[in-house]
Amino acid sequence: MKVAMIGTGYVGLVSGACFAEFGAHVTGVDSNPEKIAKLKAGGVPIFEPGLEKLIAENSAAGRLAFTTDLAAAAKEANIVFICVGTPTAESSRHADLSQVFGAAEAIADALEGFTVVATKSTVPVGTGEKIRQRIKARNPKADFAIASNPEFLREGSAIRDFMHPDRIVVGCEDERARKAMYSLYRPLYLNETPMLYTDIPTAELIKYAANCFLATKIGFINEMADLCEKVGANVQDVARGMGLDGRIGSKFLHVSPGFGGSCFPKDTRALTQIAQDAGSPVDIVEAVVRKNDERKLKMVDKIWSACHPERSEGSHAAGDPSPAAQDDKAITLAILGLTFKPMTDDMRESASLAIVPELLRRGAKLRAYDPEGMENAKALLPQKNITWCTDAYDAMQGADAAVILTEWNEFRNLDWDKTRAALHSPLIIDLRNIYKPQEVRESGFTYVSLGRK
Ligand SMILES: NC(=O)c1ccc[n+]([C@@H]2O[C@H](COP(=O)([O-])OP(=O)(O)OC[C@H]3O[C@@H](n4cnc5c(N)ncnc54)[C@H](O)[C@@H]3O)[C@@H](O)[C@H]2O)c1
Repeated sequence: MKVAMIGTGYVGLVSGACFAEFGAHVTGVDSNPEKIAKLKAGGVPIFEPGLEKLIAENSAAGRLAFTTDLAAAAKEANIVFICVGTPTAESSRHADLSQVFGAAEAIADALEGFTVVATKSTVPVGTGEKIRQRIKARNPKADFAIASNPEFLREGSAIRDFMHPDRIVVGCEDERARKAMYSLYRPLYLNETPMLYTDIPTAELIKYAANCFLATKIGFINEMADLCEKVGANVQDVARGMGLDGRIGSKFLHVSPGFGGSCFPKDTRALTQIAQDAGSPVDIVEAVVRKNDERKLKMVDKIWSACHPERSEGSHAAGDPSPAAQDDKAITLAILGLTFKPMTDDMRESASLAIVPELLRRGAKLRAYDPEGMENAKALLPQKNITWCTDAYDAMQGADAAVILTEWNEFRNLDWDKTRAALHSPLIIDLRNIYKPQEVRESGFTYVSLGRK
């Protein structure tokens, strides 16, 4: 089986390396020559645990190669996977499909012999059919079938997720395509992984429905955290009490400064647009999107009032052109964590991208550190008034408070003596609830977290 992965980002690179591990011959294609040069030289352009080793082993075994030559790879392949980005469009909530259609047209020109063209990219319902029409229009003689094979891996545990998925979804309406997809995923089928075959629109919608449901769970527990703060309850216990109910489940009930990342924000937005265009609005998801956007800025109010306990929370509406902080001494904050979650260097739609600029706008000085995301963060955040630090203690040096934005393991076990010595005032603002309030307070700190006393 020969496979071409168009796009060697988080999805294309991981799934390509995993298909090679299953025994397929895989060519990873990317239009970014720097990425391909790095991969050819044995490097890996992203941080994903275990990926470097998997790529090295499969490249050495002759089952994995990289190129910028899409035509050559697509010509050879039995299955071509489209794994390019589908970010939110600049002027609407629609998914921007320019990368998908660009790839599809390049594939059309190259097809030789029967080929399955499968989308792994998350695409709106109807995109498979549009790809089919574009390929047909461009290359009427091409012998091909479309499949939708949405990907459910999570950054940070992507290889494990790919190798041990809860299910594989394949949307296809052609028996040859179905056989080819079955044959590629056979090692997982032998592992008794459920394989769900559907029509193409259904497979496309499953991905959005799954992501939006998970995002709703996060949005729900975040609202419960706010309510807990008002009524004096403990959100951690509420989440546990809910999650132990088998009908609900404990996953995605972790309180946070709002979800971010390369998928949930753009996929929730895209589903609201898909639903609106179809005349069947999804009000629940609309509310999740709105509340999540609001939440990130609400976190700034929380940080601000923790640092200025004499002032009331919410006294600085976002966009306020005359922040009161400017008339007194600027506070310095240690920002611990910048990526949207731990074990990735991905900064896309991270809560830090909303929180950090607003803190700066209010006049704070920041000392920032992230174990893997520094390079990406530097490219995306303002440079003025941010000092980039070498570790958590360096970031906390002389700061008025430490703000935990991402729950990296190295922030879970801070040395309290070193922390106290580094901080100018002993204030910890934990927006991931990684500590037990009593323990931190007993170590002599003022501790602020979410949804707990
Ligand atoms: N990142 C995740 O955790 C995740 C999980 C599940 C699904 N998805 C979906 O998978 C898709 C890809 O996501 P990603 O995070 O891997 O994106 P990414 O931005 O990391 O990677 C996309 C890659 O495609 C390349 N590319 C764009 N156009 C190309 C073309 N015409 N030819 C060759 N290469 C091209 C880009 O250079 C880039 O390297 C998205 O639709 C996303 O929603 C992502």
